[in-house]
Amino acid sequence: MGQRHAKARLIAEEWVASGLDAAALGAFDWELGAPFVRETVKRSGYPVVAANLVCEGGERPFPAARVVEHGGRRIGIVGVTVGEVEGCVVTDPAEAAKQARELMGDVDAAVLLWPAREEEANVAARAGLPFDFLVDASGRSGRTTPERAGQTWLLGGGIKTKAVSVARLSFVEGGKAGFFPEKYDQLIDEEIAKVEKYLVTAQRQHDGEKTTPTARVLIQRKIDAKQTELAELKELRASATSDGQNVVTIRTITLDQEIADHEATLAHVEAVKATFSAMDDASGAEVVARPMRIEHGPYAGTEACVKCHPTQYNQWRSTEHARAMSSLVAVSRHRDEDCFSCHVTGGAPAEIAGFPVTIETSDAVGGGNNVQCEACHGPGRDHVGDPTKHRTVKDPDEALCRACHTPEQDDGRFDFAAYLPKVTHPTPE
Ligand code: HEC
Ligand code: HEC
Ligand code: HEC
Ligand code: HEC
Repeated sequence: MGQRHAKARLIAEEWVASGLDAAALGAFDWELGAPFVRETVKRSGYPVVAANLVCEGGERPFPAARVVEHGGRRIGIVGVTVGEVEGCVVTDPAEAAKQARELMGDVDAAVLLWPAREEEANVAARAGLPFDFLVDASGRSGRTTPERAGQTWLLGGGIKTKAVSVARLSFVEGGKAGFFPEKYDQLIDEEIAKVEKYLVTAQRQHDGEKTTPTARVLIQRKIDAKQTELAELKELRASATSDGQNVVTIRTITLDQEIADHEATLAHVEAVKATFSAMDDASGAEVVARPMRIEHGPYAGTEACVKCHPTQYNQWRSTEHARAMSSLVAVSRHRDEDCFSCHVTGGAPAEIAGFPVTIETSDAVGGGNNVQCEACHGPGRDHVGDPTKHRTVKDPDEALCRACHTPEQDDGRFDFAAYLPKVTHPTPE
C-alpha cells in the first residue's frame, strides 16, 4: 500500500475515533482511486455524506444527509462530492443539495459540506441555497469578517489542518430562524471606517498639485471601485440586525505547540510513520552518513565541488542546509513523500532546482541528501567537467529560495534579507 493510501486510512480512522459526525469527499480523495476510497470508508466507518453521487445500477453508496443531535438541537448536515469517480456519476451539487435539504425536513441548523474551492460554492450560494452554513475547502483561516452569500454563511477551516474553524451556535428562545455572527455589525462598521479613510487619502492624492493627469485617471478608478464597495457595505450594515436571531460565534484555532497532542492519535501516527522509514533498508545513522555525491544524471553532488571551492564548501557545512536530511531522520520522515523534496537535491533532471524530487527519482540518480550546492546553483556535472565552458547559476535569487521556503511550510517566517547572509559564502582572492 502506498504512502498516500496509508495516510488516508490513518486520517479516516482518527477522525472516526474523534467522533466526527459527517464528512464530504473531495477531488483529492477520489484521486486515491474509487475502490480504495469506498473500501476505506466502509472499514473505518468514516461518516461520508454525498447527495450527488450515483454509481452503477443507480446505487448510492453514501447517504445524502445526516441529522445529529447536540445539546437538544437537531443539526442537519448535507454533503456533496467533487471530482472524478470511477464507475459513478457526480451530478449537479447545488440541485442535489437542495433536494436533500427538502427531504431532511425541520432542523435547528442546516449545514452543507461542499469540498471545493470557494468560487464554485459561492456562486451557488449566492443563487440561493437553503442552508444556514456552507463549509467549503477554501481555507478562510486568515479572515476576520464572516462572509455571507445569499442566506448562507460561508465557513472554512485552515489549510492542511494547521488551523481549525469553530462555529459555536447559541439559540435564542422563540427567536427567528437563521443565524447572526457575533459582533457582525461592529465588524462591518470597522470595514466601513477603513474604506472611508482610504477614500479621504485617495481623494487628497487625486487633487494634489503634483499628480499627473495619467495618475489622476488611475486614482479615480480606484476611488470609484472603493465607492462601490462602500455602498455595498452600507447596504449590508442596514440589513445587518441581530434582532431576535440565533447567534453564531466563529473562531479559528491554530494547531500549534500550545495545543497538546492527543496521545492515542500520536501513537497511531508514529506507527504509520515507522512503516515509511522501514522502506529504507538502512538505519537512520546510515542514511545521514550517505556520501554527498550523486552518481548519475546532471547533478554531481557537493563532494565534486569541494576541491575547487573549499571556502564555499566549509561555509555551506556550517549551515542548516547541510543537515536537512538529519532533521527528517530525527522524526522518522526520511522516506516520507511529503517531506523529501525540499530536504534533498537533484533527481529531477529537467528542472534547474530539481523540484519536486521524488524518492524514486532521487534513488535513480544515486542519492542527494541535504540541500546541497546544486539545490541553489543548479545541476553542475558539466561544470565539474569543464568549469569555464559550463557555467552554473551564479547568483541564486529569492524565487529559488521560496520554492522550498514556502509560507505553508514555515508559517511565513522566511525573510530573504535576513536569511541570505546566513547562506552566502565569501569568495577567496
Ligand atoms: C575543477 C574545478 C571546479 C570544480 C570541481 C567545480 N568548480 Fe565551480 N568554478 C570553477 C572555476 C574555475 C570557476 C570560475 C569560472 C570562471 O569565472 O570562468 C567556477 C565558478 C563557479 C561558480 C560561479 C559561477 C560563475 O558563473 O561565476 C559557481 C556558483 C560554482 N563554480 C559552483 C560549483 C559547484 C556547485 C560545483 C560542484 C557541483 C563546482 N562549482 C565544481 C571550478 C570548479
Ligand atoms: C531545496 C530546498 C531549499 C532551497 C532551494 C533553499 N532552502 Fe533554505 N532551507 C531548506 C531546508 C529544508 C532547511 C531546514 C534545514 C534543517 O534544519 O533541516 C533550510 C534552512 C535554511 C536556513 C536556516 C534557518 C534556521 O532556522 O536557522 C536559512 C538561513 C536558509 N535556509 C536560507 C535559504 C536561502 C537564503 C535560500 C536561497 C538562496 C535557501 N535557503 C534555499 C531548504 C531550502
Ligand atoms: C516545501 C518544502 C518543504 C517540505 C515539503 C518539507 N520541508 Fe521541512 N523544512 C523546509 C524549510 C524551508 C525549513 C526551514 C524553515 C526555517 O527554519 O525557516 C524546514 C525545516 C524542517 C525541520 C527543522 C526545523 C524545524 O522547524 O524543526 C524539520 C524537522 C522539518 N523541516 C521536517 C519536515 C517534515 C517532517 C516534512 C514532511 C511532513 C517536511 N519537513 C517537509 C522545507 C520543507
Ligand atoms: C542556499 C543556497 C546556496 C547553497 C546551498 C550554496 N550556495 Fe553558493 N551561492 C549562493 C548565493 C546566494 C551566492 C551569491 C553570493 C553573493 O552574491 O554574495 C553564491 C555564490 C557562490 C559562488 C560564487 C562566488 C562569487 O562571488 O563568485 C560559488 C563558487 C559558490 N556559491 C559555490 C557553492 C558551493 C561549492 C556550494 C556547496 C558546497 C554552494 N555554493 C552552496 C547560494 C548558495
